[in-house]
Amino acid sequence: MGSNGLTGKVAFITGAARGQGRAHAVRLASLGADILAVDICADIDSMDYPNATASDLEETVRLVEAEGRKIVALKGDVRDMDGLQRVFDEGMTSLGRVDIILANAGIVRLGPGGDPARVWSDIIATNLTGVFNTVSVALPKLRESGPGGNIVITSSTAGLRASPSPEAGGQAYTAAKTGLVGLMKQLAVTLAPEGIRVNSVHPTGVKSGMTMNEAMAGLMAQAAAGGDNTISAMQNALPVEILEPEDIADAVAFLVSDQAKWITGVALPVDAGFCIR
Ligand SMILES: NC(=O)c1ccc[n+]([C@@H]2O[C@H](COP(=O)([O-])OP(=O)(O)OC[C@H]3O[C@@H](n4cnc5c(N)ncnc54)[C@H](O)[C@@H]3O)[C@@H](O)[C@H]2O)c1
Repeated sequence: MGSNGLTGKVAFITGAARGQGRAHAVRLASLGADILAVDICADIDSMDYPNATASDLEETVRLVEAEGRKIVALKGDVRDMDGLQRVFDEGMTSLGRVDIILANAGIVRLGPGGDPARVWSDIIATNLTGVFNTVSVALPKLRESGPGGNIVITSSTAGLRASPSPEAGGQAYTAAKTGLVGLMKQLAVTLAPEGIRVNSVHPTGVKSGMTMNEAMAGLMAQAAAGGDNTISAMQNALPVEILEPEDIADAVAFLVSDQAKWITGVALPVDAGFCIR
């Protein structure tokens, strides 16, 4: 390990084109890591807001390179295990190793509309199966690159506390994010003998493409006017309305650092007290 903590290490990050995934890429690069950044860079039909674009992913490349680190950025869909394996393997041809897996890609649909069965299956496929796929394609290389290694799964406060929602999207999101806690603990206990740590982070609302869009603005306006919807009961305990992606990167950087060397199997809220209200 070099003076920057992560020098010589490589992080594989999904959903890295914008938002939290980009913030994690830039933060870990600033600590010395090289990055394999993967993002779908395409919309998913059942969503009510756009995913990131190829130019968003290019901006992540620019920001990581500005930190003086190497980055390989590729289009890939976490729902497709075989496709994701090809993308990961392509990244490994130039990066050669992986030490950190950040399973961060995710989608949501909190507003009404859409075909409920489709909304449900797309959210489960991305947010739950997609995390399983992400870990599965990279784990053999993580082991080979060891000893040790780190996996951080991005769940949500929704993985710790359900908020009322009559919509398939809200229900699928909570089911997937809660399922990730089980997957995280299962992986943590399985991989602990190899010194591989596995933890999850559980953010409250964060400024990103998922929240700063027309669909969410509509829900916020409805809630502010006294309307009852999926977000009307969502409030933090600490006096902050919404967190910055870099706030979550702080927690991720800690979890993958040596300062957290005995922390595994932990579901860490980064939620300004949302879950204790
Ligand atoms: N923003 C919030 O308020 C909030 C709160 C709690 C948890 N989260 C979680 O944080 C994670 C990051 O989200 P964000 O806030 O940065 O939102 P975001 O929408 O800005 O970023 C998510 C990224 O994932 C990508 N993506 C979507 N589907 C994909 C797929 N099938 N394959 C590969 N990439 C895909 C998108 O293109 C996008 O770049 C998600 O798992 C989300 O559920 C977000």
